[in-house]
Amino acid sequence: MLLMPTTDDAKILAARRSLEFIEDGMVVGLGSGSTATHFIQLLGKRVQSGLNIRGIASSRASEELAASLSIPIIDFSTCSEIDVTIDGADEIAPGLSLIKGGGGALLREKIVASASKRFIVVADSSKVVSKLGKFPLPVEVITMAAPLVAKKLLDMGIRPKVRRLGSGSEFVTDEGNLILDCECGAIDDPQRLAASIRQIVGVVEHGLFLDMADLALVAKGAEVIEMAR
Ligand code: A5P
Repeated sequence: MLLMPTTDDAKILAARRSLEFIEDGMVVGLGSGSTATHFIQLLGKRVQSGLNIRGIASSRASEELAASLSIPIIDFSTCSEIDVTIDGADEIAPGLSLIKGGGGALLREKIVASASKRFIVVADSSKVVSKLGKFPLPVEVITMAAPLVAKKLLDMGIRPKVRRLGSGSEFVTDEGNLILDCECGAIDDPQRLAASIRQIVGVVEHGLFLDMADLALVAKGAEVIEMAR
């Protein structure tokens, strides 16, 4: 019986293709989420067979995974430029505008991506959209300011919801902040929305990654499609 490839198979395929962009001696930005996890696992195997790279992680989870696979981990005190970052995305729109942060790691992910000479997105084809906004936009906020930020967002016509764990307690990011998942509807002007959210005091970062990604490797079935900016 012929088994249809699953979404996870597609994520692995995209992650495997991204290894072609990793060279000996590079500093590699390690993304977060399930697709980036596949990448880190595959990268770990290469390191164990002799590939010499150093990693900068975009979350505690990715850092712990990388360390468990013997990938040497450094931080920005040792190195201020990353050769290439491989990370997932929640939505990929034309021009490689992204929504990220479904896993709550958007702040460090954006820092890592912004320090990268090349930022490559790995994803299965369900992430490709014609316009951003179906996926609720994650906005990371300082805890004490969360009600104020939520009110400002409501005034802008956005519906924010504090992210919670299955247990009902608030999801807290690696940096100790809260996440507001924001129903924005179809985002016609991502740059404008990004600027409006950014100016609210108490917002630490938002999940719109605009003009950052250089390439997306999107797997569909047995094929990997390259989307350029
Ligand atoms: C983590 O905060 C996110 O930005 C992830 O990169 C994004 O949610 C994609 O995750 P998956 O690869 O698990 O779909």
